[in-house]
Amino acid sequence: MKALVLAGGSGTRLRPITYTRAKQLVPVANKPVLFYGLESIASTGIRDVGIVVGDTQAEIEAAVGDGSAFGLQVTYLRQEAPLGLAHAVLIARDYLGDDDFVMYLGDNFIVGGIDALVERFRAERPSAQIMLTRVTDPRQFGVAELDADGRVIGLEEKPREPKSDLAMVGVYLFTPAVHDAVAELKPSPRGELEITDAIQWLIDAGRGVQSTLITGYWKDTGNVTDMLEVNRLVLESLEPRVDGDVRDSELVGRVVVEPGAVVSGSRIVGPAVIGSGTVVADSYIGPFTSIAVDCRVNNSEIEYSIVLARSSIDGVRRVEASLIGHDVEVTPAPNTPRAHRLVLGDHSKVQISQ
Ligand code: G1P
Repeated sequence: MKALVLAGGSGTRLRPITYTRAKQLVPVANKPVLFYGLESIASTGIRDVGIVVGDTQAEIEAAVGDGSAFGLQVTYLRQEAPLGLAHAVLIARDYLGDDDFVMYLGDNFIVGGIDALVERFRAERPSAQIMLTRVTDPRQFGVAELDADGRVIGLEEKPREPKSDLAMVGVYLFTPAVHDAVAELKPSPRGELEITDAIQWLIDAGRGVQSTLITGYWKDTGNVTDMLEVNRLVLESLEPRVDGDVRDSELVGRVVVEPGAVVSGSRIVGPAVIGSGTVVADSYIGPFTSIAVDCRVNNSEIEYSIVLARSSIDGVRRVEASLIGHDVEVTPAPNTPRAHRLVLGDHSKVQISQ
């Protein structure tokens, strides 16, 4: 069995973070979301992984390399344009050969991994096995309709009037039967070859399609609330570890201080992670906070937030429920006149307390 990991796409829903970064590399608890997916795949015993890449190929390759860090053997497959998930299967046809495979969308996060799902697939080998989860706004997803016995009878991609609240999670298992379906597809109204249509084709052709209902699922929605929530979930199972330099400080609960980080005169209440090369001085870092590498937090308070690499927060209290991008500077404005001074990139969102 192989894996096909999709790491193309432009990540419009996560702007402005994705203007400068592949959406699959947005970190959760200081680790790119894609890495969790690769670890889940490695855990099933699969070794051969094809990663479908687009414009951000160089960045994805720099992060994942040949896959050996994950115990995987990675082959990069270039998709010239984002023409759909089924199009990715089409271009991977030679790579996949006649193997069964799991297709994993690199921006999806599944708490608890996919071991059980893959085990069930290996035992029963339906043409396709999909994962479903209940969501509040199904219109952003592929949506499944089940019959009274729980069998999938219909699938619709981003329907305006969803027939259920059961969204398709971005992990699919296929036998080579899917290639017959993909070969028959026509582009959807959004101009893509939809994997949803390929699975509907399998249902219509009477080839077995199974579904499993899961909880603990997250996908980028451009919604910072969701990102902070998944960050919280992951941090909750953090193993505390101090490899950096901690002086005159108090660490409470699950706190990770990476090698090369320096914490002084501060109080950190976990779960929280401080990336390597980051300096925290005279500050309070509260629960559910991930500070990435090479940041500076000085004389500030921050809680329930994500700070990406090389950003600095100096003399600010207090930052809460925030997602701060790369190379950002947050400082107080001068006292007179009392005004906010903002330099914000496109699609930024700021909430100012009055
Ligand atoms: C894709 C699929 C959709 C699925 C979703 C899960 O949507 O087309 O059926 O529910 O992934 O992440 P996209 O992210 O391409 O909008």
